[in-house]
Amino acid sequence: MAALTREEKQQLIRLAQEARTHAVAPYSRFTVGAALRSTDGQIFTGCNIENAAFTPTNCAERTALFKAVSEGVTHFTDIAIVGARIGEINELVTGPCGVCRQALYEFCGPSLNVIMAKTPDDFIERTLGELLPFGFGPANI
Ligand code: THU
Repeated sequence: MAALTREEKQQLIRLAQEARTHAVAPYSRFTVGAALRSTDGQIFTGCNIENAAFTPTNCAERTALFKAVSEGVTHFTDIAIVGARIGEINELVTGPCGVCRQALYEFCGPSLNVIMAKTPDDFIERTLGELLPFGFGPANI
């Protein structure tokens, strides 16, 4: 499958930025947005949703993934992620946490392109296989 163009990646990042505005993060004050693209070109966005009991918190990536899967979409090519503390510009890109890497691996395997962005003009990309080497997935069980 052909890689997205730079403009398509930038659009995915902008959708992640928009989703980030919906984050519910009163405890960490770190807000995250994600935009997940399916193989047929649909885009599902998500934000982190925190909880006073802390452990029910859902990351932006899993929000996007679960929205897609719950609508019957299970194959993906790319995910864009943006995150920062409220009111700050992040020095670092936000990579998916370990739980999200595992959740994504279940559906995407190692080929998913993970776009970790500060802005639409400043991002790095890695495959999920690079972020989760020797990942344990459906083929392993
Ligand atoms: N978070 C995400 O939503 N995605 C990540 O990739 C990293 C962490 C959220 C979880 C929590 O609400 C806040 O960021 C601080 O960890």
